[in-house]
Amino acid sequence: MRVAFVGKGGSGKTTLSALFARYAASRGGSVVAVDADINQHLGMALGMEDGALPRPMGSHLTEIKEYLRGDNPRISSASAMVKTTPPGRGSRLLHLDEGDDPIHSRFAVTTPEGPRLMVTGPFDEDDLGVACYHSKVGAVELYLNHLIDGAGEYVVVDMTAGADSFASGLFTRFDMTFLVAEPTRQGVGVYRQYRDYAADYGVPIAVVGNKVHGPGDVAFLRDEVGDDLLVCLEHSAAIRAMEQGRPFTLRDLEPANALALGRLLDRLDAQEKDWARFGDQAALFHLRNAKAWANRATGEDLAAQIDPGFVFGPTRVSLSG
Ligand SMILES: Nc1ncnc2c1ncn2[C@@H]1O[C@H](COP(=O)(O)OP(=O)(O)OP(=O)(O)O)[C@@H](O)[C@H]1O
Ligand SMILES: [Mg+2]
Repeated sequence: MRVAFVGKGGSGKTTLSALFARYAASRGGSVVAVDADINQHLGMALGMEDGALPRPMGSHLTEIKEYLRGDNPRISSASAMVKTTPPGRGSRLLHLDEGDDPIHSRFAVTTPEGPRLMVTGPFDEDDLGVACYHSKVGAVELYLNHLIDGAGEYVVVDMTAGADSFASGLFTRFDMTFLVAEPTRQGVGVYRQYRDYAADYGVPIAVVGNKVHGPGDVAFLRDEVGDDLLVCLEHSAAIRAMEQGRPFTLRDLEPANALALGRLLDRLDAQEKDWARFGDQAALFHLRNAKAWANRATGEDLAAQIDPGFVFGPTRVSLSG
């Protein structure tokens, strides 16, 4: 199951992604946490030392593409593979439960409480604006497009702030999106934007209230977002202490906040996988991307990369032709 944490800058996406990843791992899940934000803080929130961070996926796109395309005859070379190029027959697919494949073994490291961590990599000073961020995050889109995940397996993605997270098709690659909202008007403003966009694409979202100080805050969120409010995390002294550099494990978290993490996991587990939507939207966003720039950039008609005989999901049914 894949879940994205989105929301306004500073709302707590990174903190909650890390706590949720730790929690899912503590419940026996196989967990990969992915830092897809411009500012890379997820490793720290998972208790990693700076020097122990994994190799950044965004700086090794060619290597990743070379592996994933396998011997798919529709993809002529790694350079003709763009972030939206969907898998087809011959592509290499990724699994969380099987022994290491070269993607996980080269780009993931195990963090102290169990989740593995993958990162897009920092946004360098010489990077050319947002375009570069989108190309780095393309590594995550490719990863998710080629991943066959199931129950008890979790990919947790810490996304970039605000509406930027739905600038590409990436926001459709999740089973569930948790929108982190502080109990403020700005906090719920991002929710409204996201809700309308998500609804257009059948993307399930739920709101997670964060840094809540009491019943008044919960009531505010309930009034503003109604039934989309799944659960609230309280303002946490344990999280604050972690930010101050004190050692932290999940056991230090307040019981009410740990219970809230349990609600998030239950909600994600209850979500039914929709591989058909996933496949349809992979094709849709690839065609859009091809028209917008990728055909021009590669000099090929990338619509031909879509393999009509490929079925997304755990049982690949190959049609003839
Ligand atoms: N429940 C909480 N209790 C106390 N502090 C919190 C809580 N959630 C988040 N914080 C603090 O709020 C600040 C912002 O959190 P965080 O970095 O997770 O937000 P973010 O949405 O990822 O921000 P950005 O948009 O910059 O990536 C951090 O200092 C974090 O420790
Ligand atoms: Mg963050």
